Parts: sequence; C-alpha cells; structure tokens
Amino acid sequence: MELLAIESSCDETAAAVVRDGREVLSNIIASQIETHKLYGGVVPEIASRKHIEVINQVIDEALVTADRTLNDMDAICVTYGPGLVGALLVGVGTAKAMAYAADKPLVGVHHIEGHIAANYIVHPDLEPPFLCMVASGGHSHLVIVKDYGEYDVIGRTHDDAAGEAFDKVARAIGLGYPGGPKIDAIAREGNPNAIEFPRASIDDAPYDFSFSGVKSAVLNYLNSERMRKKNDRDTQKGAVTDETESDDFAGINRADVAASFQEAVVDVLVGHTMDAALEFGMNKVALAGGVACNSRLREKMSAACEDAGYSFYMPPPILCTDNAAMIGAAGYYEYKKGVRHGLDLNAIPALSLR
Ligand code: KG4
Ligand code: ZN
Repeated sequence: MELLAIESSCDETAAAVVRDGREVLSNIIASQIETHKLYGGVVPEIASRKHIEVINQVIDEALVTADRTLNDMDAICVTYGPGLVGALLVGVGTAKAMAYAADKPLVGVHHIEGHIAANYIVHPDLEPPFLCMVASGGHSHLVIVKDYGEYDVIGRTHDDAAGEAFDKVARAIGLGYPGGPKIDAIAREGNPNAIEFPRASIDDAPYDFSFSGVKSAVLNYLNSERMRKKNDRDTQKGAVTDETESDDFAGINRADVAASFQEAVVDVLVGHTMDAALEFGMNKVALAGGVACNSRLREKMSAACEDAGYSFYMPPPILCTDNAAMIGAAGYYEYKKGVRHGLDLNAIPALSLR
C-alpha cells in the first residue's frame, strides 16, 4: 500500500510517498527557516502564505521522485493538528481537494503520532508497546504507545515545551533562531557542569515537565553576570579594558551557559523517561520530535537505556524534525485500522493525542 502524505503544521511544507508505513519512496521538505529567522521565530501568517506558495510543487516533487502519479496512491494522509491553524489549513485544504479530484480515501493524522511513527521507518523491528519521549518545539510528551494508534500520555509540560526553551535561551544568549541546533553546536565547546541550573519536577505528577524555570534561571544568570560586570567596572574607574557597555556578552561564557542549560533539560528528559520505563515495565524506549536531534540527548538517553538493558530507538535527525514521511508512516496504521475522513475534515490547532 502506497500513501501520499502531506505536512504543513508549522514552518516546513512537506510531502512524501510511503509504502506500507515503513518504506520511504520520497521525502520532500521545503523549510521556511530562512524567512522566519528575520523575525526571530515563526510568524504564523507568513508561514501560511509560504505554504500556499510551495505546496503544489512539493507534492509534485514527492510523486516524481517516487516515480509515481497521484492515481497510483492508495490514499492521501495529512496532518490536521496540532499546529498553527492557518498553516494546517493549507495542507488539509490541499489534501481534501486532491482526494476529491482523484477519488482517493483521505486520512487525517495527528502530528505527534507522526513524530512517534518516524521510528517505524528506521527500525523495522520496532512494534508497540514501547515508551516514547516526544520533545519538539510545541510539545514535550512522555507517551506509552500501547498499540498502533493507541496512546497513554503519562507526562506533559506545564509551560514551555523543551524545544521552546531551547529557542528562547538561544535568543537570550544571542544565537538567533532556530535555537536548538545552535545551542547543541556551541554547547560542545562548553562545560555542562559550569553553572547549576534547576531540574524541575512537579509534585504529584512525576512524569510532567516544566521548562520555564530553567529558562528563567538562565535569564537571571545573564542579568546577574551583567550587573556584576557593571559593578566591577564602576569600582575600577579609570582602569583600561576593551569591554564596552554595548557588548552584551562580555565576560559571559556562552558555551558554558548553553552546555549547562542543555544538560539540565537533557537530565530531566532522560530522568523522567527512565523512571517511567521502570514503573510501567517498558523495556523498549524511543525518542521523537525536533529536540530528538539533540546530540547530548541522543547520547545520554542511549547510554541510560544501555545501562538499564532496554532497547533504544531514535530516528535520524532528518526524520526527527517536521517531515511528511512520518505522517505517511502514522497514516498507514490509521488507514489499516479503517480510519477515513470526509471532506469536512478541519484543522484542529489543539488536537489532543487519544
Ligand atoms: O518537531 P519540530 O521540527 O517542530 C515541532 O513540531 O515543534 O521541532 C522543532 C524544535 C525547535 O524548537 C528546535 O529548536 C528544536 O526542535 N531542535 C533542537 C535541535 N534541533 C531542533 N533542539 C535541541 N537540539 C537540537 N539539535
Ligand atoms: Zn513537529
């Protein structure tokens, strides 16, 4: 069975052809990062317009690369939530029009379900049940995948998602957007134990997350370092230094800040996952979502699983960030279960994972 999959929930316009949920015949991604960089983050209205500009070409390219036509497809799957409503609507509207025109079944797919299913593409042996840590720009979910398309969300964030914290801290230390990959890169030159940032836990909800505290701790650290520098300068009146007031990061080791922040987030993600695996008796652990690209997270989660004797799964980075191949993988299992959507399918920005 071959499915055309479409994804447009945030700032990537993507289309893919996927066979039997596990084999990717094409995976085309048009990223809008260069545009949103100018504004320091994703501008929803611009994202919608950019999706409209390129979606038809991206879909054509996915079909051509797979050496298929629309008529060869058994169904069309599309992300219908969660995400930015205007962005989602472009994919949903396009998928509906194509399904209607070519008389193909339409399957709406949950974006997080797609992230989880990215693991099926590269791990042909992976079958539920397993535990999956999904960390992206919009979500931090610890999920028990009970069966294909059946989930228990046992942990979620109370405030910022992990990726959001990476993006905000990157902005604070002047690295720009998107922050995750930049923090990952600069952290390699820093000391992860240089600054002790908090590892938050939530009373009565041991698997939930809160990342706003660590983000605020980084901001407080930057402010107090700046104050300290300023006081030092004031007390050494007349001393010659090459630091100027306008140099925001003078005397601050940004690599140490990045590495210490990253370590705090990674420790919480890994710690919660390992505790949950033990409590729920899961011996298969997977990573998913954009933050799963993080090299320190990959390294520490993999080592923790090895120590505990669990099998560990993670997609390659290109399948961790938003793409349509993962939507085709999730869509295949939905299709097999009989899920079909009508032409009344709508974008649902806050769609929850069943
Ligand atoms: O899954 P994704 O592409 O989009 C959403 O569904 O949100 O995730 C994007 C997020 C961004 O916050 C980005 O900063 C983060 O994933 N990210 C990373 C890395 N690469 C991307 N975070 C940490 N380290 C990375 N290497
Ligand atoms: Zn995503």
